[in-house]
Amino acid sequence: MSNPIPTTSGVPARSVRSKTAAGRRSGPGGWFTAPWRDRSGRLSAGKTLCLAGCCLPAVYMTGQWCLGDFTSRPLNQAMLMTGVWAVWFLLLSLAVSPARAIFGLPKLIQLRRMLGLTAAFYTVAHLIFYIAMEGFNLLFVASEIIHRFYLTIGFIAVLGFVALAVTSTDASIRSLGKRWKTLHRLIYPIAILSLWHFFLTQKIDVTLAVLPTGLFLWLMLWRGMPASMERTLSGLFVLAVLAGAGTILTEYAWYALATFVPASRVLAANWHFGRLGPRPSFWVTLDGLAVMVAALLWRWVPRARLGGLLSPR
Ligand code: HEM
Repeated sequence: MSNPIPTTSGVPARSVRSKTAAGRRSGPGGWFTAPWRDRSGRLSAGKTLCLAGCCLPAVYMTGQWCLGDFTSRPLNQAMLMTGVWAVWFLLLSLAVSPARAIFGLPKLIQLRRMLGLTAAFYTVAHLIFYIAMEGFNLLFVASEIIHRFYLTIGFIAVLGFVALAVTSTDASIRSLGKRWKTLHRLIYPIAILSLWHFFLTQKIDVTLAVLPTGLFLWLMLWRGMPASMERTLSGLFVLAVLAGAGTILTEYAWYALATFVPASRVLAANWHFGRLGPRPSFWVTLDGLAVMVAALLWRWVPRARLGGLLSPR
């Protein structure tokens, strides 16, 4: 019996159906895979933890709502919070490939679909809360989406998320073949539209939107790096510096082109932490350097202790 060939989608090109009871119903050949089980039908600690993390924002928001801790406009607050969580889960799903390569953890691929679906879930929830805020007046919502640019691009991103979510099943991966990968590359324009929408929803201070944009830059720069540098400490150092510089540029360009705020003063705040505190570029660079240090320390972790984490699936 030949081994299944791992693909970048995480679905074996030639799948071997599990003989366990759970495997008959689930896994590549089945019709349902419980999100806490791996492909062989066994309980997976990593997937269970990831699932708990994905549900946490929803549980937290529900708790806050039930306890009456939300503002006087709970729907608005839930709409804003789900939008922010959608962006962060989108970034987490994009971070899976670099994490796999840098830390040599192929099994992390199992988490990518769950993280992507969670981003899609919070995005759809965000839209539903918006529709609820408008009293479920679908005609009004449609006209707003058509006439307000920031809603138009948000809507296109939501459509993209839904398309990727419905084609994320094992059956779609198999039936679409090579086209699946091409289709799922749409995640990059979707991310750009989502971040742009985020910027446009902010009033004057765009700090909240600049931070995830800087981290997105890091992820894109990593993808553009020569394969020989992807895991090296010098490569990761250069990446941290470039992502930080890109964040400064993005923030400066936004204030210069889209606002009347003196962009040069925001630029100067990157090296003189004043009342504004550290700018997003500081955190992006710090995160990049933290990845570099983690990669260095990871080399000293005894492989034997990591057991299953390192095996291909
Ligand atoms: C039809 C689709 C969408 C609609 C109707 C919509 C609607 C809105 C509205 C009305 C706001 C608040 C604007 C304000 O306070 O002035 C908002 C904010 C936001 N949206 Fe969307 N949105 C959509 C799609 C998306 C998508 C695809 C994402 C990201 C994946 C997203 C992420 C956000 C974020 C991060 C905020 C800012 C939250 C904050 O300031 O705390 N939205 N959206």
